[in-house]
Amino acid sequence: MLKRTHTCGELGKDHIGESVNLNGWVNTVRLHGQVIFIDLRDRYGKTQIVFNSEDYDGDFESVKKLSMEDVLSVKGTVQARGENAVNPDMSTGEIEVMVDTMELLSETTPLPFVITDRESASEDLRLKYRYLELRTDELQYNIITRHKAYQAVRGFLSENNFLEVETPILMKSTPEGARDFLVPSRLHNGKFYALPQSPQIYKQILMISGFDRYFQIVKCFRDEDFRADRQPEFTQIDIEMSFVDEEDIYSNMEGMTRHVFKEVIGTELPDPFPRITYDEAMSKYGSDKPDTRYELFLQDVKQFTDVSDFNAFKSAECVKAIVVLGGAKYSRKNIDEMTDLVKSFKAKGLTWMKMEEGQLTGGISKFFGDDLQKELISSTGICDGDIIFLIGDERSVTEKSLGALRVEIANRENLADKNDFKPLWVTEFPMFEIDEETDKLTFLHHPFTSPTTQNVNELDSDPESLKARAYDLTLNGYEIAGGSIRIHNPEIQNKVFSLLGLSQEEAQEKFGFLVEALTYGAPPHGGIAFGFDRLVMLLTGSSNIRDVIAFPKTTSALSLMDGSPDSVSDNQLDELNIQIIKKK
Ligand code: AMO
Repeated sequence: MLKRTHTCGELGKDHIGESVNLNGWVNTVRLHGQVIFIDLRDRYGKTQIVFNSEDYDGDFESVKKLSMEDVLSVKGTVQARGENAVNPDMSTGEIEVMVDTMELLSETTPLPFVITDRESASEDLRLKYRYLELRTDELQYNIITRHKAYQAVRGFLSENNFLEVETPILMKSTPEGARDFLVPSRLHNGKFYALPQSPQIYKQILMISGFDRYFQIVKCFRDEDFRADRQPEFTQIDIEMSFVDEEDIYSNMEGMTRHVFKEVIGTELPDPFPRITYDEAMSKYGSDKPDTRYELFLQDVKQFTDVSDFNAFKSAECVKAIVVLGGAKYSRKNIDEMTDLVKSFKAKGLTWMKMEEGQLTGGISKFFGDDLQKELISSTGICDGDIIFLIGDERSVTEKSLGALRVEIANRENLADKNDFKPLWVTEFPMFEIDEETDKLTFLHHPFTSPTTQNVNELDSDPESLKARAYDLTLNGYEIAGGSIRIHNPEIQNKVFSLLGLSQEEAQEKFGFLVEALTYGAPPHGGIAFGFDRLVMLLTGSSNIRDVIAFPKTTSALSLMDGSPDSVSDNQLDELNIQIIKKK
């Protein structure tokens, strides 16, 4: 092999006249009779190399047979490109390398898809040949950006006295609201480890051990339903701090987030980050992770619908509306699509009115008399050419479904500027909510989150109205981090377990070790975890979490490249004392 003297991204005018060796993949081949142009590619860039049958020392016929993705090493001389051949889009666009020797290091068989055109193949095919997809410019950029983000995070945290500590991957299950991935134990037949949904209990215990500022960039595992921003195994920047309150967490984490955006993509984020309470976020945006790059606020219109002749909303707890600028253009089909969307959020339907020549028309407009129309128009600010969508239902259904419609409309109308970054803290979450399936009280964040009160009696009286010392950091409509101030008093921790329906025995069995640890001098502490993959999605402008993970799973949790999950040998199962029973 002619070992490289330079990468494919570094040669320029200064190197003209030098003899160089390059190694890389054939990106493109252009045959011009007795001259062949190849763009040679590696992780650093591309360089045009030229084979001229008159100057080339080797067999020109074998150069003609080269194809995309063959791996070469070449030796040649750097020369200036002709004036018309300069390529301003390439960092090496002013030069080319005139080759005199070439070695074919590896010949490729026909490719399953064209590397230079990612969209030419289905995602499943690209995931099967992930190593090829990873060669594309887009994924190379994403993985390099991800690397820069790791380094920026580690640099900032280490500089600010945080210690990186690893916690176990094989552990006892910690409830974080999702299903666990389980690992059977060979040595302890019939028992299972759980893969961590997060290192929550370990990081709290590290505080009790005196490591007052902890962090870890750590894999977490959750067996849940997957979406564009969720994976079964994902990465967190996990953080815990002692002797702190919410303000310390906010200022440290804002510092880290600002540092990462500045270092990795050169973007300045605001200082400080704005905040909104959970109640206000739900009321104004219909979401606990509002995208504040655009307005499209939810407006309360119950006072108007109550006095209209439209009876369907009269018994609704909450009637809200959004006005879409220029939305009168929406066709019946558009509105039907939007209706299907809000129905998937449990709304019964979607009502609407358009405004033309100062009048509300279509939809449910006939139920609003002239005067009422005027009041509604002036209150909502609707203008000619706009549409108003209304939903009436229970408060949470109205707000969540309109919130989803708000995002859908922003996507359709391109309301969000891709280069704009709007971080926002969401604070004052409720402590508990009623689980719709079991009808029982459940936690919103996790059971170690401190309520705002330290009064045990108050906890008992009306748990549903309690607030938690929990917070989320959102950015452009993504929840990028979530955390809380923790309970450090064993009595309160036991009370919260019992409110969540755990018997004393269950609580003792599952979390006895944590509650006991809290009795041996637990400092007040709190923390947060960032979804690292989501952070990288925002840094790279990706809308699919799979695009920022080297080897992701599909939405049905498969790895198409290596075929996991897979069956295992009878021997392995015997050792674990496990028998597979076929489902009927
Ligand atoms: P939480 O469950 O809110 O908190 O998770 C923290 C952050 O992790 C990201 N995230 C995910 N990213 C990709 N795929 C998933 N399946 C997924 N699930 C969560 C989100 C989220 O904000 N132990 C607590 C943190 C704490 O209290 O300190 C926890 O894990 O960006």
